[in-house]
Amino acid sequence: MAITRDDVLKALAGVTVDAAGTSLPASGRLSEIVIDPSGRVVFSIGIAPPEAKTFEAVRQAAEIAVLRLPGVKAALASLTAERGPGAGPAPRPAAPGGGPQGGPRPGPALPGVRHIVAVASGKGGVGKSTTACNLALALRAQGLKVGLLDADIYGPSVPKLFGLDRKPETINTPQGQRIVPLNGYGLAVMSIGFLIAADTAMIWRGPMVQSALTQLLREVAWGELDVLIVDMPPGTGDAQLTLAQATPLAGAVIVSTPQDLALIDARRAVTMFRRVEVPILGVVENMATFVCPHCGGTSHIFGHGGARHEAETLGVPFLGEVPLNMTIRESSDSGRPVVAVDPDGPQAAAYRAIAAALWANLSGGAGPRPAPRIVIE
Ligand SMILES: Nc1ncnc2c1ncn2[C@@H]1O[C@H](COP(=O)(O)OP(=O)(O)O)[C@@H](O)[C@H]1O
Ligand SMILES: [Mg+2]
Repeated sequence: MAITRDDVLKALAGVTVDAAGTSLPASGRLSEIVIDPSGRVVFSIGIAPPEAKTFEAVRQAAEIAVLRLPGVKAALASLTAERGPGAGPAPRPAAPGGGPQGGPRPGPALPGVRHIVAVASGKGGVGKSTTACNLALALRAQGLKVGLLDADIYGPSVPKLFGLDRKPETINTPQGQRIVPLNGYGLAVMSIGFLIAADTAMIWRGPMVQSALTQLLREVAWGELDVLIVDMPPGTGDAQLTLAQATPLAGAVIVSTPQDLALIDARRAVTMFRRVEVPILGVVENMATFVCPHCGGTSHIFGHGGARHEAETLGVPFLGEVPLNMTIRESSDSGRPVVAVDPDGPQAAAYRAIAAALWANLSGGAGPRPAPRIVIE
């Protein structure tokens, strides 16, 4: 028999949120409840950030209550500090070194992860995932410990880029159950695509997306990482904004092609990150130059230099450019990223230069914000 929203609410009525015995459904903290046909129930519990610690027990109790329902295969509850309709940004815990005006603050830091870097673009199809994955591999080639989180919930591409389609394992840790990332050419790799069917996330609305992403970020055993690269969903809508706010980002890298339209979107992305006080670590121009594989002649199919110029106009660093190249496309499409399979080739060199510039911005002091030392247990 299909699970209904009422079944879930009834199960959650036994979970109390305070000493007065207020039930979770009565507390007004529940998000919408998404029940997918495979028996997976997803919802989130709204909290103010300082409540994270006390509400962890509620979150776990809620998952257990729902899991007990017949027909439920998995229950996924997460704590979210989100904005209500029309309300301002959710209150955030004070971050040492944060904005003096008490502006938007990052979520709690990820223990063991030094820098979280979002790779974003104003629009899809500009090569964001290709850049994120090869950039991560190029950082690793520098001797850094690197993770890659595919947060593009509507179009996860990391499973294909790395040729990975195994289900990750889970382990029990003192902090609770954790998902073990897969190993992709030496990177710790996690994608929503490893966990759910391709069409499931398409129907999720904003809060669900955020809830799933929070879990991907926090309930994965990332281990010790110098850098965690996050392949963000494309666009500059609410989902991206919330994600940028909820993640303790060191900064963002914006990928753009040289066309005017892509640049306008890239500008929007820069504006969005600035609004939430996430530093822009730099702009990458992708598909910049086409080198003809036959004659070696170069041409600029989408124009050239637009992103560099735009970066200058916006006053953000320009990290470098990646040529439009068949090897990059073919290697991506076959699950063998170019930096991993041809580390000394010209394409890898472009990514390595970008990685070096990014790392200089990250470790140079100007880039990362000090993350607040709050650990959810
Ligand atoms: N520099 C490049 N040269 C050739 N093909 C590229 C390049 N960058 C990306 N692509 C190809 O363009 C397509 C879209 O790239 P993708 O990284 O999936 O974009 P996004 O994540 O922005 O949607 C893919 O087929 C990818 O292989
Ligand atoms: Mg993508």
